[in-house]
Amino acid sequence: MDIKIANGTVVTATDTYRADVGIAKGKITQIAKKIKESAKEVIDAKGYYVLPGGIDMHTHLDMPFGGTVSSDDFETGTIAAAFGGTTAIVDFAIQGQGMTLRDALNTWMEKAEGKAVIDYGFHVAICHLTKEVMNEIPEMVASGVSSFKCFLAYKGALMIDDGALYQVLLKAKKAGALVMIHAENGDVLDVLINDYLSQGKTGPKYHALSRPPAAEGEATGRGIAIAQMTGAPIYIVHLSCKEALDKVKEARDAGLPTFAETCPQYLLRSYQNYLEPGFEGAKYVMSPPLRDKSNWDVLWKGLTSGDLQVVSTDHCPFNFKGQKDLGKDSFAAIPNGAPGIEHRLMLLFNEGVNKKRLGLNRFVDLVSTAPAKLFGLFPQKGTVAVGSDADLVLFDPKAPFEISAKTHHQNVDYTPYEGFTGKGIPKVVFSNGQVIIRDSEFVGRPGAGRFLKRKPFRLTA
Ligand code: URP
Ligand code: ZN
Ligand code: ZN
Repeated sequence: MDIKIANGTVVTATDTYRADVGIAKGKITQIAKKIKESAKEVIDAKGYYVLPGGIDMHTHLDMPFGGTVSSDDFETGTIAAAFGGTTAIVDFAIQGQGMTLRDALNTWMEKAEGKAVIDYGFHVAICHLTKEVMNEIPEMVASGVSSFKCFLAYKGALMIDDGALYQVLLKAKKAGALVMIHAENGDVLDVLINDYLSQGKTGPKYHALSRPPAAEGEATGRGIAIAQMTGAPIYIVHLSCKEALDKVKEARDAGLPTFAETCPQYLLRSYQNYLEPGFEGAKYVMSPPLRDKSNWDVLWKGLTSGDLQVVSTDHCPFNFKGQKDLGKDSFAAIPNGAPGIEHRLMLLFNEGVNKKRLGLNRFVDLVSTAPAKLFGLFPQKGTVAVGSDADLVLFDPKAPFEISAKTHHQNVDYTPYEGFTGKGIPKVVFSNGQVIIRDSEFVGRPGAGRFLKRKPFRLTA
């Protein structure tokens, strides 16, 4: 045995129990009340939870967007993820103009190779649908890309129309893929954005005002309805408001295979942040935008009821100085996105479990198990079980934290969570049986992360 984790409390999506965990050759090989067998290294986990590593299904590392490139690459971004207890990510390979899906995948594979410190997979964003692209969908699934994103917003850039979405859903269903949608009504937003700009309303808060919750509710309902016409499952990304959650709830109550994620920013930050002095509101320019605080309770309830299955980050960092300021004179030119890959587990544990909004096992489900199941990684990842990858987090629920851009590891000059305090920190993090975070230090290796060939989507997984 390579490593024995002794005296910890194992927490999965269903169970909490005291046990030792044995690791050999990168896998979990034993779980028992007391493991007698000796190991090369014994790590005492007394007082710690032994969690499956976090899985972040929604990241944008090294992504060209809005005239610039997101500031974390696969090295800095995955190191930050590891500090926060995330041991696998699924990033988005974006199909640029004239690109095939294979081109997009290869481009993102090159970005990650030799850099990622944890395992990674890719969704491919289909932005230009052609016959050739349709034929590539099953090929992508065979290559381990079993999910695709379609944007119903960002008109003139990434957006596709309803007919294209219908075709993608049909093909994806046959191929065993899950289609994810960015649900905002891009046509209406385009008009609203131009209206505000033509009135000289150029500051960051108009980003939010030009993207109303009704536009997200409408696109969510439309995406679900189009999926229903094809019989395909659908997954709504970065859901931010009641209007959208109501559509998801209605679909799920009707028995449709509809799934959705939200992100910490929509649970903890609000429209008020756009009103911060000067240009500070630009830090929160993301799509969908932050909403009125009345949505917080609605989303937390969605997490407990099960209408929302996953919490991802939509980590898409741009520096305040040098990137966000591209939009000093027009909110429409502020690159959309914000950082968060490092703080998902800490924030959700403190704000969810410590504040009694979520049970401990539900927390594990939201950050690790459910994403693994929905996106073809379970039981290789997403649980603490014999035979699973030894991607583990020794989590100290009592250790205090304070989030600050001065101390975080994300390659970006601010955090939307500056000054947030709480309790619950990943103390030791394992990736494939190797310790990669110990004593607040990164001890892993760029390039050690492997490409995750994900299984096709299965409803019952
Ligand atoms: O503002 C955001 N969300 N930026 C990243 C791209 C996307 O839509 O997910
Ligand atoms: Zn999106
Ligand atoms: Zn995103």
